[in-house]
Amino acid sequence: MADPQPIRFQDGAAYEQTMGKWSHLVGGRFLDWVAPPAGLAWVDVGCGNGAFTELLIERCAPSSVDGIDPSEGQLAFARTRAGAAGALFQAGDATALPYADDRFDAAVMALVIFFVPDPVKGIAEMRRVVKPGGLVAAYAWDITRRGAPFEPIWDEMRRLGVEPAQPPSKDVSRMEVLAGLWRDAGLRDVETMEIVVERSFASFEHFWTVTTAHNVNAAIEAMTGEQQAQLKARVRARMPTNAAGRVAFTSKANAVKGRVE
Ligand SMILES: C[S@@+](CC[C@H](N)C(=O)[O-])C[C@H]1O[C@@H](n2cnc3c(N)ncnc32)[C@H](O)[C@@H]1O
Repeated sequence: MADPQPIRFQDGAAYEQTMGKWSHLVGGRFLDWVAPPAGLAWVDVGCGNGAFTELLIERCAPSSVDGIDPSEGQLAFARTRAGAAGALFQAGDATALPYADDRFDAAVMALVIFFVPDPVKGIAEMRRVVKPGGLVAAYAWDITRRGAPFEPIWDEMRRLGVEPAQPPSKDVSRMEVLAGLWRDAGLRDVETMEIVVERSFASFEHFWTVTTAHNVNAAIEAMTGEQQAQLKARVRARMPTNAAGRVAFTSKANAVKGRVE
């Protein structure tokens, strides 16, 4: 199999279609679990196009939110979000956060940790910038256990001999790995939770358009026309529609939280 192109985040609008809605669904469940008080200073590491940042502002009445992400395409979209107007977005990397020690009350990586090439360093950085007693948390699609929203397409690609691109650190999405990393980072009161969310689409065509707008699109475009048609037919066959023609798909994420000593 040819090496897949790495997943890139260049287009915040395409990301919004494919993942923004999923991000809201899983982010809402994560915030229910964390139940943070209002008035905290947050840093949203790997804020992307601001999907979770907006939710944080809507739901948690923070005193401030800083969002950081290496993708200018994602950040450009984040800066246009009316619901995230109060956030400060800047370019940067999770492994070298441009913030002073103890600056924030809470740090979160929402669907990010498996994209960070050195997750241990990324967690150490979140811990460094959060005050003693503050929150360090993350959640990630359970990729190695087939929990990602792309799974029906990824699985059929593999059956056709096409290896889909995967996040570089996908093994950290396992619950036991996340919990171990949080404990090894010296965080206390470490807890985990599985989050299962369902997204419903108006039709199979809607599912297909939305899900192939980002991430799997490069790999699909590299396939022959015949392979593309085969892939779509195979995915359609495994996505049951209800009487109204809708399709639903369930994805699974693992969440972890801990406190700075
Ligand atoms: C799946 S998106 C999540 C975006 C957003 N947090 C959300 O919930 O929708 C992953 C994000 O991680 C970012 N990312 C990739 N590598 C990173 C790194 N080393 N440091 C910080 N962010 C990174 C990508 O640019 C992308 O925006």
